[in-house]
Amino acid sequence: MVRDEERLERFLVDESGLGRFPAECAVLAESRAEVELVLRLAQEHRVPVTPRGAGTGMTGGCLPAKGGIVLSTERMTKIVEIDTDDLVAVVEPGVVLGDFAAAVEAAGLFYPPDPASLASCTLGGNVAENAGGPRAFKYGVTREYVLGLESVRMGGEVLRCGRRTQKGVVGYDVTAALVGSEGTFAVATELTLKLLPKPPAVQTLLAVFADPIAAGQAVTRAIHLGARPRALELLDRATIDHLRGRTPYRLPDGAGAVLLCELDGDPEGLDHALMRCAQACEAAGAIDVLIAQSEQQRRDLWETRRRANPTLKELHRHKIAEDVVVPRGAMPEMLRRIDAIAAAADVPIATYGHAGDGNLHINVLVDEEQIPERAYGAIDALMRATLELRGSLAGEHGVGLMKMKYVPWEQAPPLLRIQRELKRVFDPDDLLNPGKIFPS
Ligand code: LAC
Ligand code: ZN
Repeated sequence: MVRDEERLERFLVDESGLGRFPAECAVLAESRAEVELVLRLAQEHRVPVTPRGAGTGMTGGCLPAKGGIVLSTERMTKIVEIDTDDLVAVVEPGVVLGDFAAAVEAAGLFYPPDPASLASCTLGGNVAENAGGPRAFKYGVTREYVLGLESVRMGGEVLRCGRRTQKGVVGYDVTAALVGSEGTFAVATELTLKLLPKPPAVQTLLAVFADPIAAGQAVTRAIHLGARPRALELLDRATIDHLRGRTPYRLPDGAGAVLLCELDGDPEGLDHALMRCAQACEAAGAIDVLIAQSEQQRRDLWETRRRANPTLKELHRHKIAEDVVVPRGAMPEMLRRIDAIAAAADVPIATYGHAGDGNLHINVLVDEEQIPERAYGAIDALMRATLELRGSLAGEHGVGLMKMKYVPWEQAPPLLRIQRELKRVFDPDDLLNPGKIFPS
């Protein structure tokens, strides 16, 4: 248990920029038995518990909003098994995604989800937030890879749900409900994950555009041509300008937007598919299309993409990171509206994200000490634009504390009520990660 003020500090913050939330202590559980004990004692004494992975979340999901105990699973780092016949892995929640991906790859297999923080985020956190990432376009998000869960409810009861098989329809899909519940239902202590065979070949291209709207149109064209890239990532001019000179791949000068497109599959079909994507980009007005010439160059491109979020954060005093998702066809219109909102509110905005999914990370950048009202006004306008375009307010970062205000903008009272009832079934006294997702 950590009580010492200095050592406790890192358990009180995350990547949301919401600041520090005080708590009594952090418990670093090393086993399911320890998680059971904490949740039993906390229930008996009515102490709030906030579960936590690596603290890489972007919306405050792991911040101890009501104080009490922070329950970290970062020491539960066992990869219990990787079964190459069943294509199944069993892991503890504290396994770092990058370590897991490396172990899976060494076994000749593939685990697609990667929320772009693979070097530090943990699988438990990925499951709690239902993390997405670039490869979701072809392979889907974390939920599609969680076959089963062992978790512990407030009070200490162990709940096993799901299965080890690829299929299964017995009862309600409680596993799916737990994934993405942002640590408000139960604390996962063991995850059974689905794996895939490793794709035999991968190719990556970078298309350069004069503006992001043309890049957005290229996405639709590529899909019309029947291409199914595993990732289609967009960076706008502001994001590119922040990254230039700070990343292993030097993004071209003067680019108004780039699209990073990656395909995988059999080597024979891949060249053809790559050409189709290049053609789609050119037809949408690409100024240049560059194909990664080596595995190193491909890695550099991805490392450059990965740096988008940390670089924007490092270079500004505040970064309000929105994570909206719109129907793919509405993306060019959403990009137009983002520009108009930035101009009207007079705030710089840098946008990048998973264009293939219509999922945009819109970052309002603030250098003043206090975030001005007009920045919050811009966020409200972004949310309204998203809903008008039939989108959703959070594509992959969860609601946590940051987006609570907007949940009733998207969801009607009957849906909010049934979710509150569901929370009460898991945690009647509202002690597990209280004060999250739904405004009180
Ligand atoms: C990304 C994270 C921030 O896509 O979602 O970079
Ligand atoms: Zn993302």
